[in-house]
Amino acid sequence: MEALQLCTILISFVLSLLPLLQFSWAAHIDAITPNQSLKDDSNLTTLISPGQTFEIGFFSPPGNSKNRYLGMWYKRKPETIVWIANRNTPLTEPNGEFAINAGKLVLLNSTRSVIWFPNVSSNVANSPIALLLDRGNLVLQEQENANSDIYLWQSFDYPTDTLLNGMKLGWDLNTGFERYLTSWKSADDPSSGDVTYRMNVTGGLFQSSLKMDMTKKFRSGIWNGIRFSGVKEQLVLTVFNIVHVFNEEEAYLMVKRTDNSTISLAQLNYSGFVQHLVLLNETSKWTAMYTSPTDEQCDSYGHCGANAMCTSGQYPILCDCLTGYTPSSEEEWRGLTWSKGCVRKTPLGCEKGEGFEKVAEVKLPDLLDFSFNKNMNLRECKEACLNNCSCIAFANSDITKGGSGCLRWFGDLIDIRDMPAKGSEQDLYIRLSAAEMKSIRDANKKKTLKIILSASLSTGAFMFCVAFWCIRWKLRKRVKGKSKDEDVDLPTFDLAAIVAATNNFSAANIIGSGGFGPVYKGKLSTGQDLAVKRLSKNSGQGFTEFKNEVELIVKLQHRNLVALLGCCIQKEERILIYEYMPNKSLDHYIFDGKRCTTLPWHKHFNIIRGIARGLLYLHQDSKLRIVHRDLKASNILLDNNLDPKISDFGLARIFGDDDREEKTKRIVGTYGYISPEYVIDGKFSVKSDVFSFGVVMLETVSGKKNRSFNHKNHQHNLLGHAWLLWNQGKALDLMNVCFNDSYVESQVLRCIQVGLLCVQKFPYDRPTMSSVVFMLENEGSILPQPKEPGFFMERSSMEEGSTSEYSRSKNIVTVTLPSGR
Ligand SMILES: *[C@@H]1O[C@H](CO)[C@@H](O)[C@H](O)[C@H]1NC(C)=O
Ligand SMILES: *[C@@H]1O[C@H](CO)[C@@H](O)[C@H](O)[C@H]1NC(C)=O
Ligand SMILES: *[C@@H]1O[C@H](CO)[C@@H](O)[C@H](O)[C@H]1NC(C)=O
Ligand SMILES: *[C@@H]1O[C@H](CO)[C@@H](O)[C@H](O)[C@H]1NC(C)=O
Ligand SMILES: *[C@@H]1O[C@H](CO)[C@@H](O)[C@H](O)[C@H]1NC(C)=O
Ligand SMILES: *[C@@H]1O[C@H](CO)[C@@H](O)[C@H](O)[C@H]1NC(C)=O
Ligand SMILES: *[C@@H]1O[C@H](CO)[C@@H](O)[C@H](O)[C@H]1NC(C)=O
Ligand SMILES: *[C@@H]1O[C@H](CO)[C@@H](O)[C@H](O)[C@H]1NC(C)=O
Ligand SMILES: *[C@@H]1O[C@H](CO)[C@@H](O)[C@H](O)[C@H]1NC(C)=O
Repeated sequence: MEALQLCTILISFVLSLLPLLQFSWAAHIDAITPNQSLKDDSNLTTLISPGQTFEIGFFSPPGNSKNRYLGMWYKRKPETIVWIANRNTPLTEPNGEFAINAGKLVLLNSTRSVIWFPNVSSNVANSPIALLLDRGNLVLQEQENANSDIYLWQSFDYPTDTLLNGMKLGWDLNTGFERYLTSWKSADDPSSGDVTYRMNVTGGLFQSSLKMDMTKKFRSGIWNGIRFSGVKEQLVLTVFNIVHVFNEEEAYLMVKRTDNSTISLAQLNYSGFVQHLVLLNETSKWTAMYTSPTDEQCDSYGHCGANAMCTSGQYPILCDCLTGYTPSSEEEWRGLTWSKGCVRKTPLGCEKGEGFEKVAEVKLPDLLDFSFNKNMNLRECKEACLNNCSCIAFANSDITKGGSGCLRWFGDLIDIRDMPAKGSEQDLYIRLSAAEMKSIRDANKKKTLKIILSASLSTGAFMFCVAFWCIRWKLRKRVKGKSKDEDVDLPTFDLAAIVAATNNFSAANIIGSGGFGPVYKGKLSTGQDLAVKRLSKNSGQGFTEFKNEVELIVKLQHRNLVALLGCCIQKEERILIYEYMPNKSLDHYIFDGKRCTTLPWHKHFNIIRGIARGLLYLHQDSKLRIVHRDLKASNILLDNNLDPKISDFGLARIFGDDDREEKTKRIVGTYGYISPEYVIDGKFSVKSDVFSFGVVMLETVSGKKNRSFNHKNHQHNLLGHAWLLWNQGKALDLMNVCFNDSYVESQVLRCIQVGLLCVQKFPYDRPTMSSVVFMLENEGSILPQPKEPGFFMERSSMEEGSTSEYSRSKNIVTVTLPSGR
């Protein structure tokens, strides 16, 4: 047995040396001309490139084959064939000739029949010459064009299994010409094998795939502007780079070496791997730098079947069904095989309230049943997907410049895997039913509540919370007693009861008017006071959607938020019922000199800190992350103890636009409180709320309204005025005179400084609410110096005129911006 093995090794060693041995006495030529050819006779000649890098000649493959092929190899490494002319039409015996015959380059057998020729489109060459370039490119040229870049034919256009430096793999999109790799059939048979590696341009998208026996073995995922979505972040390669080009004319991949002295190539082997090899100086042996696909199972195409996600490193359980899906064969799944994939738990009904779950950092599914629109952004894409009942997932196709292009899928999602890539994350959004959306949100809420609980380290705070929850729970139970609805989560009120309580929405009962509709005072027959908010009718939401939203908001509970007691949805009516606040809103106190004196400074300071804590709760409530969007003094209500409670929170969600960093077409807010980026770009985020909070804080300290602020020396608004005073070192002058008897200088200055930090022009300069809370609570903390506030420009007197117009109107802005891309 061992002897046999030894013998085989010996034979293959000798055979592998065969070409080497042959060529050691071979003659060399530097071009094929009508007078000069390559002959496979006893007088072996080879064609060598000028820099002695590559060599072309006749060879036989290792093994027992007697077939002769015309091939190319590195002169330094003859046993590695990098290109073959006649791989599928071998010479069956020696004495072949590679020559120019009657103006054509041809490979002839011993009886001088043409067995291979390059496919030259412009067929007549006057006086052709074939040269081997130092890049490993065999080119056919007119003699007068020699040494120019004009080729009649080049071997780079017809690669076999090897990608050399500078060779393009992919498509010329103008002519539809494709270059791709095909492996050898086996180690001793260079004819076209079953493994191919090809680029694919489908409907404007670019990806590559490796197929074995016509079935996909590996897919790179689409080109997302930075990388193929299924290939890890660009490898830090020292000897070569991989260049991708995808434009109107061409779609290709190319290896470009960075170090001219190192030899490297990529070779597709018949077991289905592309190996990137380098030839190190000392060893004269190929070293595999990396292999694609990698040996991770998740790289193998559709490893987890349909609608499942493969996560590497989760060994041995690699596969998870996507949210909303369940294994189509539990048995198979238990046996740790996954080919059957997953199916929907419950079919999507295409109802209202369906939404999407983001699956972050993945390789996008295969382009099987899909549609692509290059011009849509993520937001438009989401809408388009939501509006088509058979659309089950979407994603940005291009992740550069903040993301663009809309890819939507309609059938099974195949070949998804985790693909962490710092700085070039590709995300996928999967459609979920309304019920699934709800349960996800509930789960998130539970999680955050738990986190908040564990975060309330001080037992005092904890005790308070417990007490607070108990009271709320009791209160809710009481309210529920009046409800006809079976729903445990959401107390609903009967419209008739509300009509009676508000005296048929009598104008005399109106106690306020927010951005989303008027607020009435109501008194139930039991004597309980309520604040009843009748929402304007343009929320555009259906019954279920509205109810889901309210169910979420009702669960937001914080001492600095007005408690939502329930709702009433009947016919056209959408009504929210809140606890009643007898002490009205903050604006009643701060802008009124007399009332202000009834509240000493420490009460005001307390109110500021309360608002900050309430807002912090809204912002950091994890998945829900409510951006208030209309924070202003009149939305801060005061309870019996004059503790502040934020009202109208969460309404922005009900009125659409709950996307956090997305642009919105509709701006809802109040002049004087909206941030510059919100007005100008329609962009809103938690930092827009921070801006509004800063305005409220400066208004509270100064007792002046930002918008209608007037000063005899300049035309700036309150923010500008505060900024000027701050720079002059006279910040304390901003303080409302009503605090003269009670103020604490350090606290007032701290409030002004934090206020100025909050109203800075650029959102990224503004602190988050958690820093704001920290800065307000900690006397000793060092504060950064504020930069220029937003809207720091003097108003023209013309605008002054329009001020009164705005204050006559509802004070609510609804601006429609042209839909941006
Ligand atoms: C080829 O041979 C012809 C005549 O036999 C001669 O005129 C010509 O110069 C030769 N060309 C080269 C490149 O040697
Ligand atoms: C072998 O090549 C040499 C030089 O190219 C030439 O002189 C000789 O005639 C050739 N012999 C045969 C048998 O072709
Ligand atoms: C050369 O090729 C021709 C055409 O393919 C074939 O008929 C002939 O038998 C071949 N000659 C040899 C010696 O193989
Ligand atoms: C040669 O190329 C032309 C187009 O360039 C193509 O249509 C034809 O099929 C090719 N022939 C062979 C034998 O490859
Ligand atoms: C490209 O991929 C699509 C989808 O996988 C397939 O339908 C098409 O035939 C492929 N085209 C080529 C040229 O391989
Ligand atoms: C490598 O060779 C190419 C062409 O021969 C040349 O243009 C390039 O400057 C060289 N690069 C280095 C780093 O020497
Ligand atoms: C093909 O490449 C893979 C990955 O480097 C390697 O494991 C395998 O042995 C190679 N197969 C052959 C036939 O060279
Ligand atoms: C490899 O050898 C070449 C030629 O001897 C030399 O120029 C080059 O610097 C060497 N490269 C390395 C990495 O040692
Ligand atoms: C949904 O999209 C598919 C694929 O683009 C399309 O065939 C179908 O007509 C669309 N359905 C609707 C209702 O727009």
